[in-house]
Amino acid sequence: MRVLIVYATRGGTAAKAASLLGSYFSDVKICNLEKTKPDPKFYDVIIFGSGIRFGTIYKPLMTWMDMYWDAVRPKLKGVFICNALMNEAPKILRENFSLELRNSCVIAESLGGEFDIETLTASERVMLKLRKKELVSGEVRDFVPCLQPDRIRAFAEAMLEAMDEKKIFDS
Ligand SMILES: Cc1cc2nc3c(=O)[nH]c(=O)nc-3n(C[C@H](O)[C@H](O)[C@H](O)COP(=O)(O)O)c2cc1C
Repeated sequence: MRVLIVYATRGGTAAKAASLLGSYFSDVKICNLEKTKPDPKFYDVIIFGSGIRFGTIYKPLMTWMDMYWDAVRPKLKGVFICNALMNEAPKILRENFSLELRNSCVIAESLGGEFDIETLTASERVMLKLRKKELVSGEVRDFVPCLQPDRIRAFAEAMLEAMDEKKIFDS
């Protein structure tokens, strides 16, 4: 197997993003880190990502990175987040991933975000309101309530180009 995509999600967006990203590769395994923690040593290319709540990636991704960073470090890799406020994405990436990690990735990007207020628990709604009233009312100018296919395509293309350069063939 050439490409491993792992993700952590609460609302399902990072799972959708992982699946859409996966559609650009032919030899790919996609894993929800809540269910399984695959060993990256069996793969040539690693893509990892997480949804964002309160500016922070989710625990399953943190745990997997703690377990496997030494194995991930030398691989061709890319990192994504799924978050709603695109103008916050650079800061979120900076605060959650070290400079070394970001610099060693082919690409580090937000792929957009979405959430359905109806599916949130009462306490999550309260937390969300505390986090940003605008997220709920949709008043934020650059609020993006959906995944961004253009960004997903650009992410996949950057990875495929880097694979091509390194002669890692996706078949
Ligand atoms: C409780 C809560 C807190 C959130 N906090 C942030 C935030 O700090 N910054 C942001 O850009 N988006 C925030 N969002 C939006 C999420 O990042 C967005 O819903 C994303 O798609 C979640 O990914 P997931 O569905 O894979 O869990 C928040 C959403 C919820 C429900």
